[in-house]
Amino acid sequence: EKDLVIAIDGPAGAGKSTVAKIIAERLGYIYIDTGAMYRALTLKVLNQAYDLEDEKKLGTLAENTDIKLVKAGEDNLVLLDGEDVTAEIRDNKVSNNVSVVAKVAKVREEMVKLQRQMAQSGGVVMDGRDIGTVVLPDADIKIFLTASVEERAQRRYDELIDKGEDVDLEQIKGEIIRRDDIDKNREVAPLTEAEDAIYVDTTKLDIGQVVEEILNICQEV
Ligand code: C5P
Repeated sequence: EKDLVIAIDGPAGAGKSTVAKIIAERLGYIYIDTGAMYRALTLKVLNQAYDLEDEKKLGTLAENTDIKLVKAGEDNLVLLDGEDVTAEIRDNKVSNNVSVVAKVAKVREEMVKLQRQMAQSGGVVMDGRDIGTVVLPDADIKIFLTASVEERAQRRYDELIDKGEDVDLEQIKGEIIRRDDIDKNREVAPLTEAEDAIYVDTTKLDIGQVVEEILNICQEV
């Protein structure tokens, strides 16, 4: 059986990473979280107090940053210049600034280069915003995973409450809308459904159902 290349794209909070991780495990594939790469770079930008508007500087920084995704047992670690930033890149501060960093052409060029290298061997599930359209246009399977914005905000809210954080549902919804808006309207590689993607609306589905649906699609290929 051929090792497939599976691309999963969609807006924030659609469940891409949760689903992609499970599918990769079930198929014995590598999981590549491309959002984590943009997040890691954003963390560095914030830590070094760079001007978010200075695209040239952000591009140079991307060129000179070492980002690695490594598997350690059950965990997928994100290393930024050798340092484990897996937890930190989920901070709200990163979430609320990442789209501004991710719209810089040179930043994307560097990340896409790395992402294509990681997918070279096949047997990968890669999730993001531009995987089916730009990074891996020849992917065997392209999924566009989405859900209503209310549902996506609710899921994010539940996650953060579970972590013991004090959050506001309406605020989370606003942040998601704003991030999607920047991702959809940027000039380079905007978030959009690939022509040959399969559209999966998860609003009324649980994780298990989404996983089964995608595995069924994989079987048909
Ligand atoms: O997937 P996640 O929500 O962690 O992605 C964080 C941000 O990184 C997105 O909102 C988007 O701005 C950027 N991103 C991107 N292209 C990708 C993956 C993520 O621009 N392939």
